[in-house]
Order: sequence, then C-alpha cells, then structure tokens
Amino acid sequence: MLIREWKFEDILALTALEEQCFESDRWSYRTFASCYENSAFFGVVATEGGEIIGYGGITIAADSADIENVLVAEGYRRGGVGNKIVGSLIEHARGCGVRDIFLEVRVSNAPAMRLYLKNNFVGVYARTRYYSDGEDCLVMKLSFT
Ligand SMILES: CC(C)(COP(=O)(O)OP(=O)(O)OC[C@H]1O[C@@H](n2cnc3c(N)ncnc32)[C@H](O)[C@@H]1OP(=O)(O)O)[C@@H](O)C(=O)NCCC(=O)NCCS
Repeated sequence: MLIREWKFEDILALTALEEQCFESDRWSYRTFASCYENSAFFGVVATEGGEIIGYGGITIAADSADIENVLVAEGYRRGGVGNKIVGSLIEHARGCGVRDIFLEVRVSNAPAMRLYLKNNFVGVYARTRYYSDGEDCLVMKLSFT
C-alpha cells in the first residue's frame, strides 16, 4: 500500500468512493475539484496495485488545520490504511507549523472516533444537528503544544 498526494485525475475515483460509502453529505466532483484551487489544501490517496483504496484531506489556516475527510474503501478496512492516511495528514500539518488540528465526526461513527483517539485527538464539544440528516457531530482536536 502506498500513500501519495492527490492528483487532479484522481477525482473521478474519489467521487465514486464517496458514493459507495456515504448516504448523505457526500463530496461531489465539484467539491473535490475546488480543492485544487485552494493552495491551503493538502490531500493524499492510498493505493494498492494502482487502485485508489482510500483518501484524506486537510486544510491549513494559519496556526490551525481542519481534517476535511478520511475514507477507506469497505474491502480494505481494519488493515491500517486509515491510520496511515491520518498520520500523513498530521505530519503535513506539523510540517506547516500548525498548533492545533480540528475535525468533525458523526456521534454514531465509533470506528472513526477510535481512529482519531488512537492518533491522540480528544473530543472538545458537540454541534447539534450538524449533518443534513439531523445527526450531531463531535468536534475533535489534536494540539502539538
Ligand atoms: C474510519 C475509517 C477511515 C477507518 O479506516 P481503517 O483503515 O479501517 O482504519 P485502521 O485499520 O487504520 O484502524 C485504525 C484504528 O481505528 C479504529 N477502528 C477502525 N475501524 C474500527 C472499527 N470498525 N471498530 C472499532 N475501531 C475501529 C481502531 O482503533 C484501529 O486501531 P486498531 O486496529 O489498533 O484497533 C473507515 O472505517 C471508513 O472509511 N469509514 C467510512 C468513512 C468515515 O466514516 N470516515 C470518517 C469521517 S470523519
């Protein structure tokens, strides 16, 4: 399994993975494409034999950063791919000199919460009805200080 930076030509595969894995609040082709116009955005893909099996993205804003999305294709979960993706986003943010990384996760999404806890994120507060289906999110934070 390899981790590399996103390329523009990856967008169709990324959009297809979003459609397979999320029922709502998916990223569209347009949303992925807009990342390439944002110099503060950094995205990685995980590949296996040339096939994209996961991805993640982060936006840097001065001394803080936001993890935007992390996803691993269903058949490749529980094999350490998500951990590698999150690790590479954290390393990128650290290299940019940020102090804090934030992210939002559905309160029902135990696998993702555990992944972030394993990477030293802590829950800081909840946002009520954050998602379009009415579910709350937990905001999580990793501080380098
Ligand atoms: C969350 C997700 C990215 C995890 O990817 P993954 O490749 O399976 O994760 P890893 O194998 O690297 O697991 C790392 C840690 O995450 C936690 N974890 C991952 N899947 C888990 C599960 N199903 N149940 C419990 N803990 C889980 C564990 O702590 C695990 O460490 P361990 O293997 O030492 O127990 C994956 O389940 C996914 O794509 N889910 C759908 C998309 C999503 O919800 N993204 C997050 C949006 S905020």
